[in-house]
Amino acid sequence: MSPDGYYRRMDSSFHTIIEPFRIHSVEPLHLTTQEERRQAISEAGYNLFNLPAELVLIDLLTDSGTGAMSRDQWAAIQHGDESYAGSPSWFRFLSAVQELFPFRHVIPTHQGRAAEKILFSVLGGPGKVIPNNTHFDTTRANVEFTGAEAVDLVIPEGREPALIHPFKGNIDTAALDQLLQRRGRDVPVAFVTITNNSGGGQPVSLANLKEASSVCHRHGIPLFLDACRFAENAWFIREREEGQEGRDIADIVREMASCADGMTMSAKKDPFGNIGGWLAMNDDRLAERCRNLLILTEGFPTYGGLAGRDLEAIAQGLKEAVDPDYLRYRIRSTAYLGEAVAAAGVPVVQPIGGHAVYLDARALLPHIPPLQYPGQALSVALYEEGGIRSVEIGTVMFGRQPDGSEQEGPMDLVRLAIPRRTYTQSHIDYVVEVVQRVARRAGELPGYRIVEEPPALRHFTARFTPISGSGVSG
Ligand code: F0G
Repeated sequence: MSPDGYYRRMDSSFHTIIEPFRIHSVEPLHLTTQEERRQAISEAGYNLFNLPAELVLIDLLTDSGTGAMSRDQWAAIQHGDESYAGSPSWFRFLSAVQELFPFRHVIPTHQGRAAEKILFSVLGGPGKVIPNNTHFDTTRANVEFTGAEAVDLVIPEGREPALIHPFKGNIDTAALDQLLQRRGRDVPVAFVTITNNSGGGQPVSLANLKEASSVCHRHGIPLFLDACRFAENAWFIREREEGQEGRDIADIVREMASCADGMTMSAKKDPFGNIGGWLAMNDDRLAERCRNLLILTEGFPTYGGLAGRDLEAIAQGLKEAVDPDYLRYRIRSTAYLGEAVAAAGVPVVQPIGGHAVYLDARALLPHIPPLQYPGQALSVALYEEGGIRSVEIGTVMFGRQPDGSEQEGPMDLVRLAIPRRTYTQSHIDYVVEVVQRVARRAGELPGYRIVEEPPALRHFTARFTPISGSGVSG
């Protein structure tokens, strides 16, 4: 089926994508000149994470914590009760989480990586192996920090940007089975990330989750979900998976959860929090060990690293995240950007994912070898051209190996992540125009060299310099 085919079914009889909300309070955007942007990015060491946000016009760096909260979330914040222990806000949070993810233990954290840190501190360690469809960068870093090995087992289709497949985030269950046969004793937990962020925001099918669950359980190994974008994943299941059409989103989410023994969560994504996360599981002993660490690093188990008002905002956000009208708009509007960019001749990961459009910088910039970071080159150009901030997901993010060597990443992508309910259709039309302009002069873009980098998660703080004369016509 063509990617069009997937999206056409989502359309109502009207062509216009209508945002299912109107604006209640506005934030100013700051316009800059191209000269100011060139200066700013050079001072930032050509790393978009180093830019002051006020010098960014459209911020597509991440969809994490950057969404607009609803009127009802702001109202819920007023109910925030800051009691240290047993706050009513905690009980509202707990009930909203368990409504969708009925795990016995829910452990609140200040964000997703705090949940990862706690879980892998307990389960990781030298000699251990953690499989996942594709580890997100913080997940991989938290696994490797303990001395364990992070193995990515996404299906082969998930590694080919242009290939169309409805569930490119699926984990390769045959490869998982083989790994567990060989190294089962060293695997304390297996993960599936929904949607598969680092693999292009691609969904995982219910059938694949069930299969992964049965493989894991046959080997006596727990399966956890990294569930940041669970609602978008559920929407794709409803739209694309046989027998799931028209089903209640919350029901699909509960079925996804029923395949797993626990989860990590960043509430900064689908739950519409500006901050927050949790760790959940059924295993009592594991929960106890995790709670003990939580108290050391995050806080008492009824607030974790969060204020009562944050717990309230998330509890309300979880209700809004599974609204089909919102999800229809969310997925359709992301696809709109992807289709427009692809129509302008820029290769993109197909089909378009849930929270972001991924430009294939390696294909667009064949004159820049992966070790000169084509993704970085494209992100810098989008900023200089139109003030758009994106993020490289490629050799900068994944090229540095635990032994200190450097290899090309599996792909060199640039992610345009769409904050939830934040930008309008005309903002997105502007983004399309900027991408078109950059694509027209793709051959002139230079490659980059790293001049400074930390030992881990280098993409956040590395500094770069353009390699002069490396553009074919530049
Ligand atoms: N897992 C996935 C799949 C993620 O996308 C993220 C964060 C995390 C875990 C960690 O959560 O940020 O709350 O600590 N992703 C953001 C992004 C940062 O831009 O994709 P966190």
